[in-house]
Amino acid sequence: MDLNFYRRLSIAPMLDYTDRHCRYLLRLLTKNTLLYTEMIPANALVHADPEPFLKHSLEEYPLAIQLGGGDPETLALASKKAENAGYQEINLNCGCPSDRVQNGSFGACLMKDSEKVARCIEAMQKAVQVPVTVKCRIGIDHDDSFEFFLNFIKTVHEAGCNTFIIHARKAWLKGLSPKENRDIPPLNYERVLELKKLMPNLNISINGGIKTLEHAKELLTQLDGVMIGRAAYENPWMLKEADSLIYNTQDPIWKNRKELLTAYLPYVEQELSQGCPLTIITRHLSSLFNGIPGSRKYRQMLSEQAPKAKDGVELLQKAMAFVEEIG
Ligand SMILES: Cc1cc2nc3c(=O)[nH]c(=O)nc-3n(C[C@H](O)[C@H](O)[C@H](O)COP(=O)(O)O)c2cc1C
Repeated sequence: MDLNFYRRLSIAPMLDYTDRHCRYLLRLLTKNTLLYTEMIPANALVHADPEPFLKHSLEEYPLAIQLGGGDPETLALASKKAENAGYQEINLNCGCPSDRVQNGSFGACLMKDSEKVARCIEAMQKAVQVPVTVKCRIGIDHDDSFEFFLNFIKTVHEAGCNTFIIHARKAWLKGLSPKENRDIPPLNYERVLELKKLMPNLNISINGGIKTLEHAKELLTQLDGVMIGRAAYENPWMLKEADSLIYNTQDPIWKNRKELLTAYLPYVEQELSQGCPLTIITRHLSSLFNGIPGSRKYRQMLSEQAPKAKDGVELLQKAMAFVEEIG
């Protein structure tokens, strides 16, 4: 499988968002886009029961797992478990600025120690056959020169990593919440484009603030991949023409969002029968009809009735009936 083909468009790892139920829905909209898990702590895979963290459906492929960690040995063991479970890429998080992650000395603070990241990558690559990739920022705190960024990438590349996904904004570890640090400081796409010019053999995906497939397509004229986060979560329907626009293949045939949701219902039924709480699934569905008459009533019904619903599929059908979708 040529993952670089699928990597032209990817959906960002997002904690609490890109779980397997969300990914299954996104996959109904695009067969090719590379999907990422939420960040999974390597420690949890090695020291706890890994099954709940690794569980996924074959339908979600192409699928990458993102690991959080900073210890080469633990990351290597976690990577092996992920590969054995079927994940097709192992990504190391070098971009998350949260306190919890900083306390564990991983995420964005790894950018301050490129040698350590290099050791992690080496150990992970030795453990698995699938590609090992890095998601990082363009800098961190006051280390925000192009030279710093380039040195980080070069050191990690020398350890064997050829694929980088770059959130084009620096990480700020003190004084901003992770949420604020997704919008401040401003994006700097130039840094990423400059890197690609200097190191054309690397596979570079850009991330941050990309809201439309048209914008993604434009960036693909200069880069190898585009990663979209919030825009795709908040409005999954935006992906409906991803296969034709980005990959030149045929789009799925959903006439409208109701048809999409109807196609998702057998999955919901199956998950509910295996004991999954309905709300774990419906939280990903509440924004699906935003902007369409009736969507407020749809959302309201889901939020009020999903926690106590006896028949989850019936509730979704009833809620969907409020939506007056044309076409
Ligand atoms: C709710 C949420 C959770 C996130 N969790 C992760 C994560 O687990 N790992 C990671 O590398 N980035 C995480 N991010 C950052 C995104 O992957 C992405 O880099 C960021 O949102 C910028 O892209 P966007 O402007 O397209 O949303 C998260 C973002 C959001 C909104």
